[in-house]
Amino acid sequence: RFFLHYADLTDSSSLAPLLYDIRPDEVYNLGAQSHVKVSFEVPEYTANVVATGALRLLEAIRRTGVRCRFYQASSSEMYGSAPAPQNESTPFHPRSPYACAKVFAHHVTVNYRESYGLHASCGILFNHESPRRGETFLTRKVTRAVARIRRGLQQKLYLGNLEARRDWGYAPDYTRAMWLMLQQDSPGDYVVGTGEVHSVREFVELAFAQADLDWRAHVEIDPRYYRPAEVDYLLADCSKARLVLGWEPSVTFGELVRIMVEADLNSPQIRASHDG
Ligand code: GDD
Repeated sequence: RFFLHYADLTDSSSLAPLLYDIRPDEVYNLGAQSHVKVSFEVPEYTANVVATGALRLLEAIRRTGVRCRFYQASSSEMYGSAPAPQNESTPFHPRSPYACAKVFAHHVTVNYRESYGLHASCGILFNHESPRRGETFLTRKVTRAVARIRRGLQQKLYLGNLEARRDWGYAPDYTRAMWLMLQQDSPGDYVVGTGEVHSVREFVELAFAQADLDWRAHVEIDPRYYRPAEVDYLLADCSKARLVLGWEPSVTFGELVRIMVEADLNSPQIRASHDG
């Protein structure tokens, strides 16, 4: 009972007919060029998908009159350099083209809710990770490298800023929060995170230790991975999600690192390259 359909957030002509055909009860807009560093290389494309894309989808819902609930994937990147901990009242201070585009998408979702009475909610999700995370994001880049080093497939891992701090959680917990938002009688905006902060350095140290490796023997800094403007410190205050949605994270930072390292150590691709 799972169907894939083609459409594109940069092509409004593909969105309305699809909504009209499917008539969904719930729409989750997770579409994006979601890599922060890449957004500095392709800022216009990022804005087209992330900012205007959200607007196109909202407009398609409004014009077709399809009565569905709408979820917008807002991001903790919108807070940028705003003081931590960040909650729903914290003013945004975006630090990348990606984050600026997410701020637009967030505000336009709120605007469609207020203007047209749409049941539209924004989840302001802090970093959420799992073994399915793309290989160019920090957590997966590290856990994949740990597995490959462990299996003798590479020696070095090149990273950027080790001092940035993030509130990292487990993605399946966060999808539950998204779903819960659309089950509420009234729409709203919710911060979702663990309320615990760790540095990139701590993530790296723990991931290598998980495979009995000393990270200092393998990690080198490559300034190519520095960003023109960095987001130094993100820490969620998710009191509202806990209170209204009854949401709790179920996986700790240590468990998250273990799950991701184990998945990569057992990955068929990495095992196959090793055996080959
Ligand atoms: N990707 C990457 N690669 N990041 C590195 C590296 C590296 O080699 N070295 C250090 N970092 C640092 C980044 O500078 C950043 O401070 C931190 O590790 C996390 O980077 P990412 O994993 O790329 O995620 P992000 O925090 O920039 O953004 C992610 O989370 C957001 C939610 O807060 C993305 O998933 C966004 O799409 C999402 O909105």
